[in-house]
Amino acid sequence: MKTLNKMFLVIFALTFFVMCTKQEDKNILKIGEFGSLTGSEATFGVSTHEGIMLAIDELNAAGGIQGKKLKIITVDDQGKAEEAATAVTKLITSDGVIAILGEVASSRSLAAAPIAQRYQIPMISPSSTNPKVTQVGDYIFRTCFIDPFQGKVMANFAIHKLKAKRVAILRDVKSDYSVGLAEFFKKTFEENGGKIVSDISYTGGDVEFKAQLTTIRSKKVDAIFVPGYYTEVGLIARQAKELGIKAPLLGGDGWDSERLTEIAGNALDNSYFSNHYSPESTDPKVIDFVSRYKKVYGKIPDGLAAMGYDAALILIEALKQTKNQTPQEIRAALANIKNFQAVTGNISFNDQRDAEKAAVVIVVKNKKFSFIETVHP
Ligand code: PHE
Repeated sequence: MKTLNKMFLVIFALTFFVMCTKQEDKNILKIGEFGSLTGSEATFGVSTHEGIMLAIDELNAAGGIQGKKLKIITVDDQGKAEEAATAVTKLITSDGVIAILGEVASSRSLAAAPIAQRYQIPMISPSSTNPKVTQVGDYIFRTCFIDPFQGKVMANFAIHKLKAKRVAILRDVKSDYSVGLAEFFKKTFEENGGKIVSDISYTGGDVEFKAQLTTIRSKKVDAIFVPGYYTEVGLIARQAKELGIKAPLLGGDGWDSERLTEIAGNALDNSYFSNHYSPESTDPKVIDFVSRYKKVYGKIPDGLAAMGYDAALILIEALKQTKNQTPQEIRAALANIKNFQAVTGNISFNDQRDAEKAAVVIVVKNKKFSFIETVHP
């Protein structure tokens, strides 16, 4: 009799325990995040993560969604496409996340998106701008503009503001982002009578660019378009200066990192790039975001942090519209979002699940980024 009692007690305790954990699971919504927290694009992943966490912590502190708290499960893909695919597979099949935030770099979003699509788990990229990313399928969204627009912005800037006629392009052949943006820039620049006098490539991870830059130097260029990421762009700028090249460099959002000028020194003075936002904006939403972010992280948020924050806000908004927070409901709610007032602009998804937002042009001066102009689509 005694042993039977004990057995009941154990069974009762176990059942209670299982019920409790189940109960707890029900009150937690698991969201996956994958990004480059280490590697040569580490500031992209870290800033994005900080932006995401700010939004999630604010939501949880305010009570969560229908009493449920959001839990972010973050995986570092080290800036590698294969790791990005593995990360997303793990987040879906072993962690059981209901939605995914990531990646920044287009090549890594492209490696992961087919997996999210296959499992029908909504994925929102905060800042991958290559058009192919959302073409993977109807579960893939992005909260940023795309490269045909960004390329056009910089080509128009080169022609109308810099009066550039002869431009060289130096592109990263390993990056879908870089190759796409180079093509889109070239198209608008040539359509407006500009001449691409040299179009050469490098490979992400390279550290020596003098051969390409020597070729470019011989072409008497007005500007050099380098649609790469900050680590290589910083080195390219340095080496261009060492070779006596005076022409400004032009680029895109991939330049956005405090590491850029740490690597380049003053070699990027009077160079320009397009981006998603400027912390100098006088928009009250930006001012408010910058101050909240500064309070938590003690620094000014770069574009990636703002984009991470907005992607998380959009996901939260979609979750609020659902009854049971199923991936299917989340997908449908995302597709319906119209004119959502985010920090980096108003977000509506078009038929292709891309956001159509304004871009800003930034000048680099004394190792600092300053706002030049806003360009609307
Ligand atoms: N747009 C870049 C890409 O698609 C990533 C990026 C976004 C980098 C914003 C920096 C800032 O690969």
